[in-house]
Amino acid sequence: MSQTPNIVRSASAGSTSNVVRANVVRSSAVTPSAVTPSAVTPSAVTPSQRRAQQLDPTDSTWWRNAVVYQIYPRSFADSNGDGVGDLGGVISKLGYLELLGVDAIWLSPVMRSPMADHGYDVSDPRDIDPLFGDLAELDRLVADAHSRDIRVAMDLVPNHTSVEHPWFAEALAAGRGSAARSRYYFRDGQGPDGSAPPNNWVSVFGGPAWSRITEPDGTPGQWYLHLFAPEQPDVNFDNPEVVADLEQTLRFWLDRGIDGFRIDVAHGLAKAPGLPDMDLDTAIVLRHTDSDPRFNNPQVHPIHRRIRAVVDEYPGAFTVGEVWVDDNAQFAAYLRPDELHLGFNFRLAMAAFTVDEIRGAIDNSLAAVKAVGAPPTWALSNHDVYREVTRYAPDDSPEGIAIGTDRARAMLLVELALPGTAFIYNGAELGLPNVELPDEVLQDPVWERSGHTARGRDAVRVPIPWQGDTPPFGFSTNPHTWLPMPPEWAALTVDAQLDDTYSTLALYRRAIELRYHRDEFSGDAIEWYGAPKGCLAFRRSKGKLVCALNTGPNPVSVPPGDVLLTSKPFVDGRLPGNSAVWLVSRKQET
Ligand code: NOJ
Repeated sequence: MSQTPNIVRSASAGSTSNVVRANVVRSSAVTPSAVTPSAVTPSAVTPSQRRAQQLDPTDSTWWRNAVVYQIYPRSFADSNGDGVGDLGGVISKLGYLELLGVDAIWLSPVMRSPMADHGYDVSDPRDIDPLFGDLAELDRLVADAHSRDIRVAMDLVPNHTSVEHPWFAEALAAGRGSAARSRYYFRDGQGPDGSAPPNNWVSVFGGPAWSRITEPDGTPGQWYLHLFAPEQPDVNFDNPEVVADLEQTLRFWLDRGIDGFRIDVAHGLAKAPGLPDMDLDTAIVLRHTDSDPRFNNPQVHPIHRRIRAVVDEYPGAFTVGEVWVDDNAQFAAYLRPDELHLGFNFRLAMAAFTVDEIRGAIDNSLAAVKAVGAPPTWALSNHDVYREVTRYAPDDSPEGIAIGTDRARAMLLVELALPGTAFIYNGAELGLPNVELPDEVLQDPVWERSGHTARGRDAVRVPIPWQGDTPPFGFSTNPHTWLPMPPEWAALTVDAQLDDTYSTLALYRRAIELRYHRDEFSGDAIEWYGAPKGCLAFRRSKGKLVCALNTGPNPVSVPPGDVLLTSKPFVDGRLPGNSAVWLVSRKQET
């Protein structure tokens, strides 16, 4: 398997305010019948009671078994009418997130940035970009989230800066061999006039990974390395100033009450010594292998130890690294007790809707962390990879997308039944598919860098529909949202789904709530049950929960037990195709 963001099969396919809506109800009771749809049924537990039961502020290992909701801020909610989401928008929706029941949010980057890669090009890592708000607004967000027992993680981008970071301007001005250039990878070019790049590396976004600068005296000069866009020069962690600055950034946010970090390109912070040529046969846009000299070099581990030492000064804070590493032993090395707390394992987000692929991804992800005692992580999608509805859809027709939705609902039950930490990408809880966008609105640098051969990730970043019948669906007061929203999303808005007890949103709320409340969701391991062809079933080994998934088209019988939740109503007492069920085993625990 290759390991980098794998979006990119070409794209297919209000004031829901923070007031908890009275007509939405909850329950933690087992539904006794064997034929149970995914309806939300009443309960006396209020959201704050529920949260208080779920999260103990003194629990420093909450992240081992959490539900973390990823917010892509420019697409979540726009509070100032510029058509781009912002921190004020996030604050206005915290009640919604409380209602959803998540433990934590992860904000994709909101630091100062010229937005060449929508915030993953940071010009000041210790400030908020005005597009999103300011530090005071972030403080308000953190305080409000904490008052609802929702923790807040930020995206940290240590691998590269923006070309607008003061360090880069200093490096350009300072000249060859200077201390300022040694914060980055500046090298002379090859050939008599240095006009060929220093090595053959290509950028993850397409095109060469090197750009040539003009020296202060106006002559063609050195080259600098950028594994991503030219606006994202890679920093050199061999320079002690670089890691010291990162430590300062970590403390800056942790002191403000931030609860952790998602670490961008965590496996790429160190490059192979000497920068040897790469194997160009393996070079595909947005992909790479474990042996690629651009990534996964042993020198990365001391950097993670430095990060961990700082984060450990703040009990309860955590890190989750973007670790696109295939080999389990090498993946586990990032999760040793003095490195990352969590590592994203993307196997489930890459798996097709087949028993072999899903089971293989689960077994492999569990095995990968076992040796180091770290919890597994699970994600079905994120801002870089296909939305699960589209990924599981047999085709992009409305019927195909309906099947994709059924499968995505089923996979939510699989994901949340597993031990470890689950990540939900904003909009997944609404069953949003990818959006087929016209060429002229595409903004992902991948589109240009790949010479218009890869459409990039915009299809999964279209703003969230909150309410109403027409775009922009309460996302903004501005009809010109940064990416256009499809009119067909009227049926998928938060408001429409809150009123529908069979909606995908209702399923998410119910599943998250049960996962928190029920003792059946305990134990660090799973055991597989025998299952008919096209099905899989597993049991949490210390709990009595059984999760059964039917990937086939026809209904099947399920193991004995009381039905806790189904992704689709049973048919004649059987689990329909493209659906999953949670059952509580009637057998006594031995
Ligand atoms: C990984 C991030 O998830 C992606 O969105 C970004 O473009 C690259 N790293 C570069 O920072």
